[in-house]
Amino acid sequence: MKERYLFKSILVALLAFAAFLPGSAQNAENARIKIDVERTIGEVNKNIYGNFVEHLGRCVYGGIYDPDSPHADENGFRKDVLEAAKGLNISLLRYPGGNFVSNYNWKDGVGPDRPKRLELAWQRLETNEVGTNEFMTYAKMLGTEPYFAVNLGTGTIKEAQQWVEYTNVKEGPYYAELRKKHGYPEPHNIKYWSLGNEMDGYWQMGHLNAIDYSKKAREAGKLMRLTSPDIKLIAAGSSNYRPDANPDEWNRTILEELKDYIDYIALHIYVGNPDDNYYNFMSTPLVIEERTKIVKGMINEVMQRTLRRDHTEDPIYIAWDEYNVWYRARSGANMVGDRALEEHYNLEDALVISGMLNAFIRNADVVKMANMAQLVNVIGPIFTSKDDMFKQTIYYPLALFANNMHGTSLDLFVDCETYDTEEFFLGLGETTTKQTDVPYLDVSATYKDDEVTIAVVNRHKDKAITTDLIAQTGEFTGSLEIFEVNGPDIKAKNDFGETNVATKKLESVKAKGKSVTYAFPPHSLTIIKGKIKL
Ligand code: AHR
Repeated sequence: MKERYLFKSILVALLAFAAFLPGSAQNAENARIKIDVERTIGEVNKNIYGNFVEHLGRCVYGGIYDPDSPHADENGFRKDVLEAAKGLNISLLRYPGGNFVSNYNWKDGVGPDRPKRLELAWQRLETNEVGTNEFMTYAKMLGTEPYFAVNLGTGTIKEAQQWVEYTNVKEGPYYAELRKKHGYPEPHNIKYWSLGNEMDGYWQMGHLNAIDYSKKAREAGKLMRLTSPDIKLIAAGSSNYRPDANPDEWNRTILEELKDYIDYIALHIYVGNPDDNYYNFMSTPLVIEERTKIVKGMINEVMQRTLRRDHTEDPIYIAWDEYNVWYRARSGANMVGDRALEEHYNLEDALVISGMLNAFIRNADVVKMANMAQLVNVIGPIFTSKDDMFKQTIYYPLALFANNMHGTSLDLFVDCETYDTEEFFLGLGETTTKQTDVPYLDVSATYKDDEVTIAVVNRHKDKAITTDLIAQTGEFTGSLEIFEVNGPDIKAKNDFGETNVATKKLESVKAKGKSVTYAFPPHSLTIIKGKIKL
């Protein structure tokens, strides 16, 4: 199997290289990607490369933190996990939940006394060994910005205000002084705060209807901002797209009710391939785009009627603050306890993640935040045992995008073959969709300092797609760097000591002139970086 893959990879690389003909005449048979650096969508916000750490399964305990591991540092944090996490260039790290937060009392996780609590969302014992200050130590080591969620389920607006006082006020009031007493003289200055989690979901502890949630979120946000005026507030938009839910109504109501106060509306999506239909699954990132456009329209509409948006000149943005593939470990025993939500990802999952990242970039004008859920073990790109770890397939596209796709998002013209899906369920408990004219090539591009970076997913299972990349303004110059994520077949996985899916840096090639031709291999993500001289 491995030899066959090696032979196939060499063949594909040779074909690709041979097909890389700078300035070649365009062929009518070829797919086309036209790049016009003057046709822009918006600035890619680095916060779309966010991630998420929840007190769930082995994400915190046994994931980022494991004092018993031979890899632990003096504070109990896993050094190997930290190194791998650094490779993801994580801009923003959401904490502490998720469903967990809706019955979390932040006071249990600070100071010398840490009560053990029954954790009801995921049915575990929460030791509270890790809390606000430990998480902040980790975020600093990782070089990432924290993004906290307050408990608007069983929590009160007063507790939310007190948490902001503890983290953001330098000195004076009780909770600021308490932080200092706990050994943290300087405030943590946490800028991003979400007003509860998935409050639209019947599964959420303290679930509310849209009007009641809006009232509670507004008053919590008001107190939090009075305590720390520069914070950004994120409202819990729709996460419940089950057939009997009414997600648009939820979003419309909270946007209307909270339009003067919030900075982002959060949306969540998890997709899957429960019926093992590759082409259906490959089309699922398009749903992100549909939902983004619907919510963008609602935002535009309510923004016409805002009265008291004194805290900012920005409009409301969208935060996809939970997204991933999640369907295998999504029922029964897989949903609870210390080994909850442990998905083992394959190549097709990595291609879906690539498509989701493309969708965020294509909507860079309004999607200003996204968080893969979650960082380690729990539907995560990093997977650990006590003394070892490996990078799952989905790690590689996320790392490639986060390290390369920055600057201005470009509005591309893409012409290639397409396919239609039948009606199918997006994932467990999700609504159905049917996608028509799904392009085999899923593409986004960014432009920064004369450099264009193009991300191309070839969704075709068996066929390389020969494509002309055409510069509409200016010309290609210098050499092109090429990275590829691929594997022997769409079901290929990684494991401890076994890497079948990873990023390969291919040989750079010279490019000159208006167009270059490249053959994108089947079931792959390719990222091409090059200069366009105007
Ligand atoms: O990320 C796993 C869970 O999915 C989160 O706790 C919750 O917000 C969502 O339902």
